[in-house]
Amino acid sequence: MIVTTKKLFEAAYGKYALGAYNINNMEQTMGLFQGNLESQAPFIIQISKGARSYTNKIMLENVIRGADEVFPEAIFAVHLDHGDEEACYDCIASGFYSSVMIDASHLEYEKNIEVTKRVVEAAHARGIVVEAELGQLGGVEEHVSVSEENAKLTNPDQAKDFVERTGCDSLAVAIGTSHGAFKFSGSQSLHFDVLSEIQKRLPGFPLVMHGSSSVPQEEVERINAAGGKLLGAKGVDATQFKQAAKLGVTKINIDTDGRLVWTRVHREYFLEHPEGFDLRAPGKIFMAEYAKFIHQKNDFLGSSGQLEEVRKLVS
Ligand code: G3H
Ligand code: 13P
Ligand code: ZN
Repeated sequence: MIVTTKKLFEAAYGKYALGAYNINNMEQTMGLFQGNLESQAPFIIQISKGARSYTNKIMLENVIRGADEVFPEAIFAVHLDHGDEEACYDCIASGFYSSVMIDASHLEYEKNIEVTKRVVEAAHARGIVVEAELGQLGGVEEHVSVSEENAKLTNPDQAKDFVERTGCDSLAVAIGTSHGAFKFSGSQSLHFDVLSEIQKRLPGFPLVMHGSSSVPQEEVERINAAGGKLLGAKGVDATQFKQAAKLGVTKINIDTDGRLVWTRVHREYFLEHPEGFDLRAPGKIFMAEYAKFIHQKNDFLGSSGQLEEVRKLVS
């Protein structure tokens, strides 16, 4: 059942964080639904601009509609990840998305407010909720690349002003995470001090953590042992998710870790089966491994076991 992201946030706030998982194809979608049902978790499916154009946005949307039919017990929201204005308006008009993210964080402050406000007005007119971003994460996104030195943590006073002036429904904050598999050159540190100051100024308001893959070292080692070359890859400590949830983080974005599962499964499969060429054989292993991965993530997020509580709220 597709529900509004707002309801999921109301259920989770202060208790646990929802996993927001990016998908690009049918195999990821199958593993995603299976893993969330095995762990009895509500969740958010994220579609990036790149995913929408990988094949065709209609293909991907219909894969999700299909999964909704195959897994009628699942409760989830559908979210546009890192949208620009054009993508946001397209998703708002489609009627399929529960929420959109307008990412104007690379623009200067007043311009970010102006763009975000326009999207909020258009989305709210159709009952769709909006995630905005303030501050700059390090790493590479589709349309922006930010070095570690240039990443800017969210200013708590600005966060309050930004939310009041834009009317956005949730805010992605920069508190030390970054996108991709190479998050930290030194040791990792989430800035809970900054997060706590933001929560004090915006009590009850849903916050979002992007760039939250853990980049498990075991996964990286297996990929490299099977011919990969991911040197120095590092991620966020997943044992910190629950602490972040207590401080108002209700949505945690995870994409890279899922890509690592895909890479490990396929590299190992073809190394062990040099004669192989049946895409279904590694595909089946991937779906099962992806489901296992989602289940484990949800345990860290605290969303495991919350499905029936959410069902009461939405039905
Ligand atoms: O933050 C970006 C997400 O990981 C999506 O990546 O734009 O390559 O689909 P993508
Ligand atoms: P990761 O690259 O850490 O998985 O972050 C994904 C993300 O923030 C999607 O918006
Ligand atoms: Zn992101």
